[in-house]
Order: sequence, then C-alpha cells, then structure tokens
Amino acid sequence: MFLLLILYTEFWGKIAKEFYWKTPYTGNFMDYNFDLTRAKIYIRCMQGATTNMCYNVLDRNVNEKKLGDKIAFYWEGNKPEDYARITYKELLQQVCKFANVLRAQGIKKGDHVAIYMPMIIELIVAMLACARVGAVHSIVFAGFSAEALSERILDCSCSLLITADGFYRGDKFIKLKEITDEALKLHGENPVKKCIVVKHLKATKENDKTSTQSNLPPAKRACLKLQDNHNEKAKNVLHKTQIPWNEEVDVWWHEVMKEAGEECEPEWCSAEDPLFILYTSGSTGKPKGVKHTIGGYLLYTATTFKYVFDYQPSDVYWCTADVGWITGHSYLTYGPLANGATSVLFEGVPTYPDVSRFWEIIDKYLVTKFYTAPTAIRLLMKYGDEPVKRFSRKSLKILGTVGEPINPEAWLWYYNVVGDRRCPIMDTYWQTETGGHMLTPLPAVTPLKPGSATLPFFSVVPAILSESGEELEGEAEGYLVFKKPWPSIMREVYGSYERFESSYFKRFPGYFVTGDGCKRDKDGYYWITGRIDDMLNISGHLLSTAEVESAIMEHLAVAEVAAVSHPHPVKGESLYCFVTLKDGHEFTDELVTELKNQVRKKIGPIAAPDYIQIAAQLPKTRSGKIMRRLLRKIARNERDLGNTSTLADESVLEALFKNRVETI
Ligand code: WTA
Repeated sequence: MFLLLILYTEFWGKIAKEFYWKTPYTGNFMDYNFDLTRAKIYIRCMQGATTNMCYNVLDRNVNEKKLGDKIAFYWEGNKPEDYARITYKELLQQVCKFANVLRAQGIKKGDHVAIYMPMIIELIVAMLACARVGAVHSIVFAGFSAEALSERILDCSCSLLITADGFYRGDKFIKLKEITDEALKLHGENPVKKCIVVKHLKATKENDKTSTQSNLPPAKRACLKLQDNHNEKAKNVLHKTQIPWNEEVDVWWHEVMKEAGEECEPEWCSAEDPLFILYTSGSTGKPKGVKHTIGGYLLYTATTFKYVFDYQPSDVYWCTADVGWITGHSYLTYGPLANGATSVLFEGVPTYPDVSRFWEIIDKYLVTKFYTAPTAIRLLMKYGDEPVKRFSRKSLKILGTVGEPINPEAWLWYYNVVGDRRCPIMDTYWQTETGGHMLTPLPAVTPLKPGSATLPFFSVVPAILSESGEELEGEAEGYLVFKKPWPSIMREVYGSYERFESSYFKRFPGYFVTGDGCKRDKDGYYWITGRIDDMLNISGHLLSTAEVESAIMEHLAVAEVAAVSHPHPVKGESLYCFVTLKDGHEFTDELVTELKNQVRKKIGPIAAPDYIQIAAQLPKTRSGKIMRRLLRKIARNERDLGNTSTLADESVLEALFKNRVETI
C-alpha cells in the first residue's frame, strides 16, 4: 500500500513538473478522506501550489513551447462553406482582450459567469478568459430551455452572462438571445448584471468587418449567398432593434472587445481554487452543480488526453461533443489545449446538409483522432456504409466513444466501416463528476473487446460492490465504485456539501459511488451495465426521471406521473411516462403534445418523452410507493412481472397493459 502511494505521488509529481506553477505544492500530492463515517469528505490536490489554467494552456504553449503559429482550432460552421481557424497566438490575444473585458465589467477571482453559447470560437475564448481572471464558468448547453438556464444561473448566482444572438443546428434556428431574455425574466430578481452578446448570425451573413468573427484576424469566413434560405430567416434577428435588447444589461461582444487591451496578467490562483461548475442531473430532480478545481483537473485531462488518444504533435483531433457537456470541457478544450493540440470545433450536426457530414469533415481537415458518442454512431449506421465510403478517411488513426455503453453492433460498424479495421476504438467510461477518463483502453496496448470500456486508467482503483457493500473479486457484477481519489475528482456539489456527501459517499462508506452497474469478466475487463439509480441516459445525456416528472406535474390536468426508461435503437434510452389525470380532464392527442412541450419548455428538447400513456391508477406498494419496476415491464409489454406481492391493488395492472402505447 505504501509503495503504491509513493508510485502515485511520483507519477503525478513528474507530470506536474511539465506545467507552470507560480509556487510549487508543499506536502502531499493528494490529501483526502472518502469515509463519511469517520469525518467529512474532502479531497485536496497539490495544496500550496499556485497557478493559472489559461496560462498553462495558452501562454505556456506560445512562449515556452513556441507553438504560437500552430492552429488551435479549425472552426467548422453549421454549413460547410462557413469555416475559420485560429492559432494559439491569436487565441491567446483574443482571450487576453476578453479577460480585460471581464475585468472591466467588474468580474474578479471567484465570481461566477454563465455561458450560454453555440459552438463557436468565442465560446472557447469566453471560457479561457474566465480561467485567466480566476472567475468560475458555468456553461449551460445551448439546447437547454429558458427555465433550465434560469435555474442554473440562480443556483450559483452568476453576475454575468455571455450568449449569442442565435444560431443554426442543421435546419433548426435557435433564437438564443430570446431564450436568454426569457430566462432572465423568469424569476423576478435575477443576479445577472450584464449580458455580453456575440453577433454570430450577422458575421456569417455579411462577413462583416466590424463583426466579432473578423476580430479573429485570419478567420476566413466564406460569405454565404444572400438568397440563401438561412440568411433570409436569420435577417430577422440580426439587428439590435430586432432582437430583444435591454440597454441597461446588454452589450455587444464586438463593441466591448474593440476597446480592450491585449496585455492581461493572469490571476494566480491556488491549485484548489474552482475552475468551473457544470450541472448534471441529480436523482432528486434538481440539477447538481459539479465543482472542479484547477490543478488536479489540468493534470488529469492533459494526461488522459495524451495517453488515451496517443497524442502526437502532428495530430488533427476532433471531439464532436458540445462544450455544454463535460466531454466538451475536458476533451475539446482543456485536455487538448494543455497538450498544444490542433482540434476541430464543429457547430453543426452529423446529418446536415447530409449524413456524410462527419466523414466529409474528417477528409477536409485530415482528422487523425476522432471522438464521438454511441448515439451518433447508431444514428449514422442506419444510413448504411455508402455515405461513409464516399470519403477516404485515410487520415484516421484512433477512434473514441463516450457517453453511454456502446452496443457491440455499433462498435463493430465503427471499427469495420468508419475505421476500415485500422483504428483501435477507445471506449472511455467516465462522468461529469470524474472530470476525466476512468475506465479506458490505451491504443496499441490494451486488447479490445467490443462493448467493454476495458481497464482503469493509471492510478484509478475501481471495485465492484455487492448490495451489502462487500468488495467482489474476480468475475462479478454489482455497483461500480472507486476506492482512491484521482486528481480531477469533483470537489463538491455547489451550494450543498451535504448533497455531495450523500450522493457519492453515503451508500458505501469509504468509496466514491458512481451510480453505475458494472460487470467484471474473467480477464478483469469492466463492462458498464447502465445506471442503477433513477437516472437515464438519452443520447448520452443523463437525465433524472424525477426532473421530467416534476416538469409534467406542473401541467394543470395532471394528478400524478411516473416516468421510466425504455430502450431506443438510436438514443439508447427514451422516456415512457404514465400519467393520471385530475377529474374533468380528458386524455387526448392535444394533451399528449402539451405534456411533451411542457418538458421541452422546462428542461429542453432532449428530455421530451417519446411515449405518454394514460394510467387510471399507478401500481403502488401498500406504503404508497410507485413500483417503477413494474411500469418498466408494462412499457416493454413484458407480462412476466416477477413478484407483485407488495402491490396494494393488483387490478390496476390489466388496465395499464391495455392502454400501452406502441413503441419502436
Ligand atoms: C454513462 C459523460 C458506458 C455512465 C462523460 C455514466 C458510459 C454517465 C460511458 C455519465 C461508457 C459514460 N460506457 N457508460 N464509455 N461513458 N457513460 O456525466 O452511465 O454526462 O455514469 O459524463 O454516462 O454521464 P456524464
């Protein structure tokens, strides 16, 4: 054990030396307590060290590594004709300017800044500028609704919000500024004092010299044709007068950037100061603000990126995840930049303008390492091999997946068709809470098994526990937990330390509990079997059934609701809801649409249930608990319900089977 500790400290200590610390750490590399029965939970990494994340991922690369002229991002817009690129030097310059803007707006170390933006270079600039001034960013996925945005802004009291006028995802136009304004009006008092707005649509339309995008010097945005359908529609929201605008709060990004200076001293922070808060679903329905800190997160994302993707300086790496999710934080922004990598930042969707878009982009930029989600693979697989084979993909070397278990069929298609049997697949298992990869193969090192995330990354110590908390050895199935901390483990749930402790450390004292079920095979390989709490994973996005239920409950006609997970061929899982109506309300198609829209409005389109059925009564135990286990079976039309002896009234079941909605 002692030897392990020395190895651990030595391993990470050596990696820490590759980065810049204004002052080095004193004492242990890591201090922690995982046992709630003994004391409060805490995890501290490199105490005493001071540093700056932005300095490490930009200044260090430009000044020490001489990577100033290297491309940091190829930006690929929603339309193939719309693209740009930015070097490390230019990115640093933009970030310094925007960091000065933040300071001019009164933002200082420890302040919270909300970011609600499309996948554009300014999003990366905004994140890194926050990191430069020591502010904590809280990024809200731009597909979330006004309600969801408002809830997240209020929860961590963001005094500044950064957004854009609007954007396209495929054919769909999203009026981001309108949603933003709605969010700010929702709850009377809101903490946002200023809102900085990127004029994104205008820039793509006119190649406007005064626009934000052209502040990035070599950004070569192709002019879109004026008769273009998109721009005709976009025109309506382009001008200040045509989008909701509040003179007291709103400022244009390009206007404040014009006056900003290019010199900006980074704020030197403690390694344990917060870097960001990112919300993830919690089983109570209220999202949890997962807090990550600077030092450990830097080391862990940099190292996992380097080894899992076998990073080489000549690589062009592409992670398709949105920056609004943890994958976009760790493996589109911080991990790749910490290594001085060149990445693709893609604004669009895999099916627009056609289903070859991914492969076209891979050939356009000669992408070598490609990281996406099983849901995208399953979606594209439906269209067969031809759209893939139309493009060469010869540049590809390594493929990755993340977000949910990948079914062997999708794995094999990814391997055989996309990768032409040349590229190993890194199935990376991790969570918002872990900050970086936990179970993952390493290319050319780990023999692969389709559907298994294989083995732990360096210094990760997993265990499988039984229901009663015993560690199971050898071949086993049970609860996946981690026995020791790793540098990028989350540090708290913002605003509720108690919730942090109870969500992750209470069920099995002494362990970090992931909430996932897992099998270990005879070779010691890990296979994630899915969530074992009331969470579900739709297209790689975690949702809690409670969150969806409370959105539906707000509808006047609804007396009671229960949401369960149902398998879906592309999304992995989908939502199937049972609703009991109040007297005097009828179950109609319009009502079903209203209920689905209610969820869209409260949470966002990703959470909209696929199926809603009427339930005169829900199956409950004698103590009144809804028996979701039975509802899951009813949704799947499985008549073998197992033990129903705790059910208060058995007669409710037949009616539920009768009113089932046909599923795919
Ligand atoms: C699931 C995403 C199987 C898992 C990085 C986890 C996976 C949840 C995999 C976290 C994988 C993620 N194999 N399941 N390779 N990757 N998951 O917080 O259930 O959005 O707990 O982080 O996704 O989702 P989150």
